[in-house]
Amino acid sequence: MTDDGLVLEARRAIAHAHAPYSGFPVGAALLARDGRVFTGVNVENASIGLSVCAERNAIAKAVSEGVREFESIAIVTNAGDPTMPCGVCRQVIWEFSHDLRVIVESNDGARVVSTIAELFPLPFTSYEP
Ligand code: THU
Repeated sequence: MTDDGLVLEARRAIAHAHAPYSGFPVGAALLARDGRVFTGVNVENASIGLSVCAERNAIAKAVSEGVREFESIAIVTNAGDPTMPCGVCRQVIWEFSHDLRVIVESNDGARVVSTIAELFPLPFTSYEP
């Protein structure tokens, strides 16, 4: 799948975001090595600290289906600038992929393409076998 196709999947998913507290919906689409796409959205909660980011929900869906090898993730918002993944999501992405491509796009199509290795240098890995 192309980057454009993956961004489109993230754009479709963002409609399902549950973000009544922040007013900041996020959509993600995670491309697995087997070609499957797992989407995710941020799911907020009245108890604010329980909110979960779009990227982590996409990863949880994939891992729950037995899929752990990934190529890329697209992340979209309605903001004017591309919104990079938060630190917690970078750590969770790193758990499953050290070479994932990260494609981030703003509402008006401004795109930043990077890798998780670039975004998450010097990772915490103490418990890796
Ligand atoms: N959020 C994400 O979904 N992904 C990120 O990488 C950063 C933040 C969500 C969490 C919250 O629902 C909203 O954006 C505002 O922080």
